Amino acid sequence: MTDTTSAGATAAEPTIFDRIGGADAVAAVVDLFYDRVLADPDLAGYFEGQDIERIKGHQRNFVGQALGARRPYSGRTMRRAHEQLAITSGAFDKVVAHLAASLAEAGVDEETIGTIAGVLGPLKPEIVTA
Ligand code: HEM
Repeated sequence: MTDTTSAGATAAEPTIFDRIGGADAVAAVVDLFYDRVLADPDLAGYFEGQDIERIKGHQRNFVGQALGARRPYSGRTMRRAHEQLAITSGAFDKVVAHLAASLAEAGVDEETIGTIAGVLGPLKPEIVTA
């Protein structure tokens, strides 16, 4: 997998984004993640009628940024993006679990997955509204 995004990076410590393989790796993880989410009967309903390719694009951008990519996230805030969806606490936990499983499937190590889950956990109060 080639890393095209860290070209402009300084020679500082590699970020998690760099370590897992940059934008290509994040795109692969987001694809695996949506396969899982859409196959989960508890979650698929939230995505009915949504433009999955558009959400995937935003999510690559968001996840990349959460992992330290140097390109800023340009989508809506997490609260604005999810407030109409009546997302439950259980649905949030399942989504994070599917993301962790997708990262593992893509070969990301457990410690890094833990760090990523630690970045996403605090978003729960912004995303869960039911
Ligand atoms: C770890 C937590 C999550 C993150 C980081 C995340 C990230 C995102 C991002 C970046 C977008 C696109 C925002 C935009 O359009 O500008 C989005 C949209 C969306 N998310 Fe999430 N999400 C999370 C949890 C969830 C959960 C738990 C569900 C449902 C069970 C969900 C369902 C959706 C749906 C349906 C949209 C499209 C909303 C619309 O376009 O109106 N997300 N999410």
